[in-house]
Amino acid sequence: MAYHVVTVNDTGECFRCSSQESLLAGMERLGKKGIPVGCRGGGCGVCKVEITAGTYSKRVMSRQHISEADECAGRVLACRVRPTSDISLAVLGKMKASVCRPNADTTPGGANP
Ligand code: FES
Repeated sequence: MAYHVVTVNDTGECFRCSSQESLLAGMERLGKKGIPVGCRGGGCGVCKVEITAGTYSKRVMSRQHISEADECAGRVLACRVRPTSDISLAVLGKMKASVCRPNADTTPGGANP
């Protein structure tokens, strides 16, 4: 099974994603709180991203969320896309707030060791 490196342009974070799983599945492993994982089936539109580099295979996506123009511009639903090479992407829409938020898991008040 081939693994590819996916880079999130907005934060510079990278994660590994196999060619057998969706970009959304890989993104969930980043452990960000509040990634709005919705239907995972291309229907709800919360996982919209724009692929800025790399190749991928995609399955049917709702035209309600991804117009033809979107698709031509590389905008896809992360739950419907599997990487076939290393990928760079930008998060869009609802997902952006969670992916770009700094991890809240670090110790609060850590300024006074
Ligand atoms: S999770 Fe619903 S469209 Fe991707």
